[in-house]
This record gives sequence, C-alpha cells and structure tokens, in this order.
Amino acid sequence: MRGPSNANAADWNGRHFIDSLDLSPPEYEALFDVANRIKEGPSNYSSRCVGKLMATLFYEPSTRTRLSFEAAMMRLGGQVLTVSDVATSSVAKGESLADTIRTVGGYADLIVMRHPREGAARLAALYAPVPLINGGDGAREHPTQTLTDMYTIRTFKDRLDDLTVAFCGDLRYGRTVHSLIKALARRSGIRFVLISPEELRLPNATKEEVLASGSGVKIQESIRMEDGLRDCDLLYMTRIQKERFFNEEDYIKLRDTYVLTPEKMKEANKDAIIMHPLPRVTEISPEVDEDERAIYFQQARLGMLVRMALIIRLLEEE
Ligand code: NCD
Repeated sequence: MRGPSNANAADWNGRHFIDSLDLSPPEYEALFDVANRIKEGPSNYSSRCVGKLMATLFYEPSTRTRLSFEAAMMRLGGQVLTVSDVATSSVAKGESLADTIRTVGGYADLIVMRHPREGAARLAALYAPVPLINGGDGAREHPTQTLTDMYTIRTFKDRLDDLTVAFCGDLRYGRTVHSLIKALARRSGIRFVLISPEELRLPNATKEEVLASGSGVKIQESIRMEDGLRDCDLLYMTRIQKERFFNEEDYIKLRDTYVLTPEKMKEANKDAIIMHPLPRVTEISPEVDEDERAIYFQQARLGMLVRMALIIRLLEEE
C-alpha cells in the first residue's frame, strides 16, 4: 500500500497528492521549474507520457479541473479514461469507493478524483494501487488548484514571500481558499485579509492551523471588500458555493454580497493581481476582464502547464 506523501523525499515515486501541504515549498518550486520548461518548449514534452493512462473519476461537476488534467495528459502523449457522470457508472449500483478505486487502479497508471465528501480522497488513497490526485474533496481541499495558484503568483509577482493577500467571498466552503491559505502560510512575510459575510467566514480550525504554522503570518478579517482592495498584492475572488448551502434562501441572501467592478478596481494597487479559480458567477463583473490586473484566464492556462509537471513527476519510474 502507498503511504502518505513524504514531503522530504526527492523521489516522487509512490506518492499521492491529497492536501496542499503534501508537497514541501522546494517541491512546489521544482514543479514550477518543470512547468516553465514546458511553457518554453512544449514539443520537448509531447511524448513524455506515451503509453500511460490516466483515469478521471469525478463524483461532482467540473469543467476546468477535469479538462485541464485531460488536456495536460494528452499534451504529454498519454491517454485518458473518464467517468464524468458517476450516476451512470457502477457507483449507482452501490459500489463502494474502495472497490471503484481498486478496480480503476488496475486499468490506469494515475487517478484524478473529485468527490463531494470531505476526506474521500484520503480514504481513496489508502486503496489506490497507483498515484491518486485529489481534484477537490467537498469543502476541504483542492491541492492542484493551489499548485495552479502558487504558480500563477510566482509567474506574475516573481515571489511567494512578502505578500499581502486578500481572499474575498465564500471562505467557509471555498476549498481552493483552504488549500491555498495553508500553503501560503508556510512562506515568510505573509499577511492575509479575509473578506466575507459573517456566515461565510474562514472556519476556525483552518485559521488556527494557519496561525500555528510558525511563520508569523498576520490575519485581518473584514466584511468590507474595500479593506481588501487597499494595499493588497493579490485579490483572490471566489464564488459563493451554492451547492454547499442547505437551503436556497440563505444562498440567495448572500450570493451578491461582493461584486468587483471597474469602479472598485480604482481602489486597488496599480500592480495588484486579481485571481479567481473559476467558474465566476456574479462576483466579478465582465468589464473587469479588460483590466490587465485581471489574470484569471491566464491562471487557468498556467494550471494546465503545472498539472503537466505534476503528472510527469508522479509517473516517473523508480
Ligand atoms: C473551484 C472548485 O471546484 O472548488 N473550481 C475549480 O476547480 N477551478 C471553485 C469553484 O467551484 O467555485
């Protein structure tokens, strides 16, 4: 059985990627170097995974994550097996996650999984005979979005330390926020401005984990978007996560709390960047897309490149 990831091991063989902290800061940097080399010379990598098969098992809707993994694998010369609609698979017959993973692990060399239940990816990894990547488990973690986000920050700001980072929107259920905030908290000189309605504040457990990270991270919380726009290096906007609300009424009450407009962008620093994991609903008005600080579509493309780097490393032979 494959053990948990060893953050110090130079050898990637036998590892899974379940939480954003499964990779050490130098391992993130190593993947960014590979992603940069892919960006500069994609043809050098187009046969890298010939003969390899990746399975994507998505128990929750996805466009970006699934397609970017599939595009990544295909651009490396590998092939893809996909179960996008789990309702039409054996899961509908009552098959357990463990059995599905053991079976699919017998067909494919790598599994990417998304599941609505928190902790499902960690459980699946216990049964996976091949590397397993968490493509999002409920509201908990989304580590490859963190890889994407860190690579984007590295690309646009040239550093991952000494940053004021504002997160805005659904900080309670936003798994991309939970993963990214933990990974950034390991860097030095980080200040977070957390902007959300009272009901959607960052969970206390995550806040405590971040504060206990030992790197002297500072946290300020606010319900006003303006507090995040002023002197931030990066504003990370998120969607209010409709599917995680228990009732429609609460969702409707909160969904339009924050809308980033060209008017509000005037308050942001000249060199601040605006990121979003996408999909965007109403929280960023389409006119903001013209602003050169809005880099979310570039962020999505960088996500494919860094996923290519991750696939290469996880599939490396012993
Ligand atoms: C995010 C997710 O699924 O958590 N999307 C993504 O993977 N790019 C964010 C979201 O759904 O709002």
